[in-house]
Amino acid sequence: MIILGIETSCDETSAAIIEGKNEEIFLKSNIVASSMETHIKTGGIIPENAAREQIKFIIPVIQEALRKAEMKINDIDSLAVTFGPGLIGSLLVGVETIKTLSFVLKKPIIPVNHMIGHVYANFVSEISKPESRIDFPAIALVVSGGHTDLLLFKNHNDYKLIGGTRDDAAGEAFDKIGRLLNLPYPGGPEIEKAAKNGNPKRFRFPRPLIGSADFDFSFSGLKTAVLRETQKIKILDKQITSDIALAAQDAIIDVLIKKTLKAAKKYNAKSILLSGGVAANQSLRDEFHLRSKIQDLKSKIFAPAKSLCTDNAAMIATASYFNQNPKSWKEVSADPELYFQ
Ligand code: KG4
Ligand code: ZN
Repeated sequence: MIILGIETSCDETSAAIIEGKNEEIFLKSNIVASSMETHIKTGGIIPENAAREQIKFIIPVIQEALRKAEMKINDIDSLAVTFGPGLIGSLLVGVETIKTLSFVLKKPIIPVNHMIGHVYANFVSEISKPESRIDFPAIALVVSGGHTDLLLFKNHNDYKLIGGTRDDAAGEAFDKIGRLLNLPYPGGPEIEKAAKNGNPKRFRFPRPLIGSADFDFSFSGLKTAVLRETQKIKILDKQITSDIALAAQDAIIDVLIKKTLKAAKKYNAKSILLSGGVAANQSLRDEFHLRSKIQDLKSKIFAPAKSLCTDNAAMIATASYFNQNPKSWKEVSADPELYFQ
């Protein structure tokens, strides 16, 4: 089955073509156009700017995805699109484009929840070697700019939310702390870079909710603790910036890992699936492996290729292959507030 996927929920415009065969995904193309340059100038995303950029990029990324896959639009069997959550103006560009394609090509649409899409980035390079197979039950940690969620997957199409953030998302915490440290937007990759030169003994920040019995997260207190520290310091030089970046990154990673491993233990997870922009963080990945080894946990840990952690259409097309729920164009609409169904 050849699937064309589209992702336009925020500031990336992406189109991808995959072939799904016997539960394996062959990636034919995955084109991502980012409007990050525009948002760097404003220090964050202004929704109307993001939507205007989506309109510029949507047709060129579809054309490029077809060209790279060496396919024609008529070779497509099925269409997939992110229908929420996200910015309404951005979402509408992808949703209305896919509806038009569906109407003209007479092909069904599989609408995909963006957060579930992130989880399926792990299945893009799924190959049938036993050591690389994702077995269920699985615990999925979705850590992005807008969400920090823990999900229990009993199977494809059978998942439930077991925990989430009560305030800021992990990526949002990285971005806000980045701003306090005068680092460029987005803060996550910049904090990771700065933290490499940090002194681990200089600062230690609180780990909110780390010992709570549930699987919830909270990151706004951490941001406030960093704010207080930066207010005490007169000159935020390169070394202090690195030291704070490292301490903040350590605090975020510590809580994410502790709660995820606890969930994996409780639900006897065979797999742990990391996903979302924050999962591109190498220290997070390394620490996950290290700490699950120390705890002698049997769950296999998966993380997508870094290019598939941030928003892309390959993950959306892949999610649609494993969760087939075809709809006619008349039944699909954007839902910016969508949570987990
Ligand atoms: O998943 P994503 O591309 O977009 C959303 O759906 O939100 O995630 C973007 C978030 C941003 O907050 C960004 O700072 C964070 O992911 N991020 C990182 C890294 N790369 C991106 N956070 C920590 N370390 C990174 N290397
Ligand atoms: Zn995302």
